[in-house]
Amino acid sequence: MKKHLLFLGPPGAGKGTQAALLSEANSYLHLSTGELLRKEIELHTDLGRTVKDIMNKGELVNDELVLEIVKKNLDKVNKGWILDGYPRNLSQVNSLNDVLLKINQPLEIVFYLDISDEVLVKRLIMRGRKDDNEETIKTRLKIYKDTTEPLIEYYSNLSLLVNINADRDLKTISADIKSKMA
Ligand code: AP5
Repeated sequence: MKKHLLFLGPPGAGKGTQAALLSEANSYLHLSTGELLRKEIELHTDLGRTVKDIMNKGELVNDELVLEIVKKNLDKVNKGWILDGYPRNLSQVNSLNDVLLKINQPLEIVFYLDISDEVLVKRLIMRGRKDDNEETIKTRLKIYKDTTEPLIEYYSNLSLLVNINADRDLKTISADIKSKMA
């Protein structure tokens, strides 16, 4: 059973949903950088104040700030973990590689949630989070295509990538992921 996982995919692909289900079922740590950053905003911390406008515009938060969060959570992890929303560019990939080398816990599988733009836009509009309006979704999607999509090839070259058709219903996707975990 794989213990060190990563979910990759565009906004609205279901990374958070599937990572939450899988981490709960296996008692793994679910590390969502988006969730952790939103919590900082909710708590009105200095970091929250720094990132609020950036996130509301759908832009990426500074690499160093996000790395701090990742390090803090992975440094002392003593169970399986699932990364969701990190890394998002090649510089974050390199930082993650350093962190994982240091804790001696190599990434074992990258689930790429493959979904059409049409379906993801519908899902996000329906959810209605603060950054789920048409203009911000456009920005998030463009940034995803420009900076995150190249990671698909990167992880594919390392033979870590597993393609999941994410256009389907939640339970079918979960079952598919579970069957590929072994
Ligand atoms: P983040 O929180 O990571 O948002 P995202 O990548 O845009 O992803 P979403 O949460 O929108 O989608 P998801 O794929 O998790 O889908 P979900 O399961 O929620 O990041 C937010 C912001 O934080 C970024 O824009 C950036 O500013 C900052 N940030 C975060 N990480 C960063 C990093 N590493 N570097 C720099 N900045 C960073 O599902 C979406 C909806 O669809 C839900 O309502 C769900 O119920 C529904 N749904 C899910 N699956 C299905 C299904 N199969 N069928 C029908 N509905 C479904």
